[in-house]
Amino acid sequence: MAEGDYDAVAKAIAGILDKPDYDDGSIGPVLVRLAWHSSGTYDMKSRTGGSNGSTMRYDLEGKDPDNAGLEYARGFLEPIKAQFPWITYADLWTLGGVVALKALGGPSVKWQPGRVDYVDEKNVPPNGRLPDGSKGQSHVREVFYRMGFTDPEIVALIGAHNLGRCHVDRSGFDGQWVPNPTRFTNTFYKLLLHEEWHEVTTKAGKKQFMNEDEDLMMLPTDLSLIRDPTFKTWVEKFAEDKDLFFEHFAEAFAKLLELGVRRGPDGKAEVNVIKHAHI
Ligand code: HEM
Repeated sequence: MAEGDYDAVAKAIAGILDKPDYDDGSIGPVLVRLAWHSSGTYDMKSRTGGSNGSTMRYDLEGKDPDNAGLEYARGFLEPIKAQFPWITYADLWTLGGVVALKALGGPSVKWQPGRVDYVDEKNVPPNGRLPDGSKGQSHVREVFYRMGFTDPEIVALIGAHNLGRCHVDRSGFDGQWVPNPTRFTNTFYKLLLHEEWHEVTTKAGKKQFMNEDEDLMMLPTDLSLIRDPTFKTWVEKFAEDKDLFFEHFAEAFAKLLELGVRRGPDGKAEVNVIKHAHI
């Protein structure tokens, strides 16, 4: 297999997505979450964190309770890494999200290789940078503004909750957002607007929201998207127009996966982002 043949890697990832005995029959959603959490630690001011370095390989980040369950995602990709040992984990984890999104009916997302794997723990970002689902719109803004996102980008990105589910033994939240959690659509926004949501407490003691039939859920952060008037205008636009949502999501997700990747003229990421932070 030719070194640098990322299409071959993408094909191989697409080939392992179906897994009848796992969750809803696909590992796609948890791969999308891995791509997001490996990138979402970015801090624009200090230029630390982000997808470069695959710092989640180190326990400080890998065992962060906010990353509970992502060990499955990383494990699912190990056979791909064994098949293509030349790809870095940082590239593999981000590419996994892009391939999964597309395979589950989502848009094509621009993706570039070139991330490196750090060889020590010095650049592992501290815990506490990922969003807390129990909070409201000011927390959501604080976390995503820190990464450099705008309000419409925030609303688009959280639309990834069209996929997958909450696992009570991982995050403490419980249930799925949409009836078909392995098909990427704009259903999440429609449900946010049109279902009646009431608060419940999960077995793990977390407060979340359920619809009247109690078969679908929302996190407090999801609900903040309709409680905040600016966020809500974007929820309404994306609920009405799936193509508009896909366009915004594809742009914002591509931007997310580039966070922390400072590329040299050859497209390769620089090894130590902290060292170059003054430039
Ligand atoms: C305010 C922002 C966000 C919060 C608080 C949040 C929180 C959560 C929580 C608590 C879970 C359940 C984890 C589990 O129990 O397994 C989850 C799942 C998920 N999240 Fe988010 N999330 C946010 C934004 C995002 C973004 C930006 C993306 C991607 C672009 C994303 C993609 C996903 C996916 C695909 C799942 C399903 C994973 C699975 O099925 O295993 N989330 N999120």
